[in-house]
Amino acid sequence: MKAAVYRTYGPPSVVRVEDVPTPQPKDHEVLIRISASTVSSADWRVRSLELPRGFGLFARPVFGLFGPRQPILGTELAGTIEAVGRAVTRFQAGEAVFAFPGSALGCHAEYRTMPEDGRIARIPAGLTFDEAAALSFGGTTALYYLRDLAQVRAGDEVLIVGASGAVGSAAVQLARHFGARVTGVTSTANLECVQALGADRVLDYTKEDFRRGTATWDIIVDTVGATEFAACAPVLKDEGRLTLVAATLPQMLGSMRRRRPDGKRVLTGAVKERVEDLLVLQALAAEGHFRPLIDRRYPLNEIAAAHAYVDTGRKRGSVVITMGPAAEAATPSP
Ligand SMILES: NC(=O)c1ccc[n+]([C@@H]2O[C@H](COP(=O)([O-])OP(=O)(O)OC[C@H]3O[C@@H](n4cnc5c(N)ncnc54)[C@H](OP(=O)(O)O)[C@@H]3O)[C@@H](O)[C@H]2O)c1
Repeated sequence: MKAAVYRTYGPPSVVRVEDVPTPQPKDHEVLIRISASTVSSADWRVRSLELPRGFGLFARPVFGLFGPRQPILGTELAGTIEAVGRAVTRFQAGEAVFAFPGSALGCHAEYRTMPEDGRIARIPAGLTFDEAAALSFGGTTALYYLRDLAQVRAGDEVLIVGASGAVGSAAVQLARHFGARVTGVTSTANLECVQALGADRVLDYTKEDFRRGTATWDIIVDTVGATEFAACAPVLKDEGRLTLVAATLPQMLGSMRRRRPDGKRVLTGAVKERVEDLLVLQALAAEGHFRPLIDRRYPLNEIAAAHAYVDTGRKRGSVVITMGPAAEAATPSP
């Protein structure tokens, strides 16, 4: 099969399309013919080893000391079950699925195996393969930060910094679904796009600084590492939470300190990768509460160009890699 492979850390040009052996499903695995995947901010970080301050020390021990341990990037996919292992009972050949290997990577290829009880779920009705491929990375991160860490409630005032990114565009939609009043912070070019995602209000960070205004928030989700607690404390309500999706190591260690008398807190951490969250996203997409925002599409053989675009830090939502015809409609199983 064709796969995008990288053997050394570095710029987008280290990624090349090669022929590699097609994996075979073990007894409890399914083989997925991949229609679409994404190049996410995680792929950029793992490829370049550009990590938030303080995490660089752990990069090579985690991802491979002398070169990448997993030479195929890609955290999420959508496709069709091509074959199943002898003992598989949950899925059958021909079903349209999306999957989130997450930190195990390996989705920038024509095929990938997944354990049948792994992070894999059927594609909800009405979504294309491209959209289904982009459900998991931003969606699970937004769920973890809003629902699990910040414990968002109906009526909360929520500010999303970086509202046009993969995580931010999911967070705007999910915060709205949880009944919050949502303000999105983005640049001039993305104001309309963030409004269309459902934000009640948008702030243009090139014209105003939310930290210097009079409005206050129950929850601030900084998806891009644009701010810190000292600057945000004055615009957090009592018991307010600042959640830092792209926290540095000092910020992560600092978040473990005891609570302040006014109850304001910093929350951060690595997202838990769970199939239960895929099922939540599947249901939200089926009910029309969450639709991944897609920016550009690139065929697999142009994946280095896709990486270069992601490296700009300016993408809107997800950059999709297509293995088959672009925006091919998924045929969800009943
Ligand atoms: N903790 C975890 O487990 C975890 C999980 C997933 C992701 N992450 C991290 O979360 C971060 C965001 O990921 P992502 O995939 O959402 O990134 P992304 O899609 O690449 O973010 C790009 C977006 O960020 C916006 N942006 C850049 N600077 C901004 C600023 N100063 N203010 C407001 N918006 C700004 C850009 O909009 P403009 O062009 O309008 O500026 C662009 O639309 C990454 O650093 C990633 O490593 C952490």
